[in-house]
Amino acid sequence: MAPVTHDLVIVANRLPVDRETLPSGRKVWRRSPGGLVTAIEPVMRTHGGGVWIGWPGGAGQKLKPFEDDGLSLVPMSMSQDEIEGHYEGFSNATLWPLYHDLVAKPEFHREWWDEYVKVNRRFAEKAAELAAKNATVWVHDYQLQLVPQMLRDLRPDLRIGFYLHIPFPPAELFQQLPWRRQLLEGLLGADLVGFQLPEAAANFVRLVRQRVGHKTHRDLVYLPDGRTVRAAAFPISIDSAGFEELARSGQVVQRAKEIREALGNPRRIFLGIDRLDYTKGIYARLRAFSELMRDGHLDVEDAVFVQVAVPSREQVEQYRILRDDIERLVGRINGDLGRIGRPAISYLHTSYPRDEMAALYRAADIMVVTPYRDGMNLVAKEYVACRVEEDGALVLSEFAGAAEELKQAWLVNPYDINGMKSALLDAYAAEPKELTRRMRAMRKTISQHDVKAWAASFMTELEDVGGHTKNPRPATRS
Ligand code: F6P
Repeated sequence: MAPVTHDLVIVANRLPVDRETLPSGRKVWRRSPGGLVTAIEPVMRTHGGGVWIGWPGGAGQKLKPFEDDGLSLVPMSMSQDEIEGHYEGFSNATLWPLYHDLVAKPEFHREWWDEYVKVNRRFAEKAAELAAKNATVWVHDYQLQLVPQMLRDLRPDLRIGFYLHIPFPPAELFQQLPWRRQLLEGLLGADLVGFQLPEAAANFVRLVRQRVGHKTHRDLVYLPDGRTVRAAAFPISIDSAGFEELARSGQVVQRAKEIREALGNPRRIFLGIDRLDYTKGIYARLRAFSELMRDGHLDVEDAVFVQVAVPSREQVEQYRILRDDIERLVGRINGDLGRIGRPAISYLHTSYPRDEMAALYRAADIMVVTPYRDGMNLVAKEYVACRVEEDGALVLSEFAGAAEELKQAWLVNPYDINGMKSALLDAYAAEPKELTRRMRAMRKTISQHDVKAWAASFMTELEDVGGHTKNPRPATRS
């Protein structure tokens, strides 16, 4: 029987739910970690009728397509070798550190690349099978950069969009990659390549000109076969109204109160919520906070830092080392500075559902988001959406994409511990009027640029560029 085809196909490394095996052997579905799922899920819901292709986690899980909460999901199984080579290896130990400013040292292994190619091909084949004639296929993120061209070879009738959720590095870093040309050519299979920020799109176009030799003009690339590819910025966002509604719900208000009480009703609660990742700057931020306590600027009776560290990529060595380092630091800080019933840092190595996150955002006075490099950082936006009383402070790294929009945050350089300390203190001591002024402006920004607006602008552009009509070749090109 021929498979049912769809007008919209989402292709992402992960499904929105992850199949986990409990210690008892029982299998359960959990929501997948990370910003990608948070952003795409509402898009799929508004477009109803599409299908989402992705990995359900774990090795060798042969699962049939299924519906989850109204979404049509097609699981792609991965073998242990593919997980090690494609996911843990090339995606997360080569591309991830390379695309994040070399915060850690990327490793280059030919066997990892081979697995990456293999997995990308399987995803492309599945998308080709499930896409209706002239359908739109939207491919997501760094794990699948070869899919657009592989898919175009199989199905030239499709309209193909690609969106990179993480930063795209400058040429000086990207060109270290032995497979730089293949990746650029892979992306050029799309009609529209979307990035978080304009500099990322400009980096891509420059690299295509230098390394592949295609003609370019501003944000357009002209391919020898007559196709035009556009590269542009589409800063991603959140379901602002959904978060706001959740934050206003009686149940979340009550839970926020309970959280404050459980923490001993301190004067101020600082909060960090991150995947446990070395790009997030968790270690430096906890040091900055602890030094403020050690130096007497803050007291454990008055302030506590709640750090939620969401388990992530636990088989990758760098991530194991990071976990050990952070947990050792938390132990040391609490041992040195805590009192009975009053830890300086309340550390939770877990992930929470949306309503508990909203309660944490409501309970926290100062949200601390200090990545060394981050494509966007949706946690910063979620915090702002949940501050329905227009209070609370956001301390935000200049190197998170979100800093381009949330300009009224206390912006910090995460490499500058003293600078972070003074920003934390300023936020701690800020007058209510000042907090409201800043928060009101940030709330306006995120209510105007929510995830719906993001998806709509990408889709509209994709239709224009994919039509190949709007962008005739200019007479002069750079
Ligand atoms: O947003 C970046 C991202 O890497 C997504 O592509 C990914 O789904 C998410 O973070 C979580 O990472 P992982 O899928 O490796 O758990």
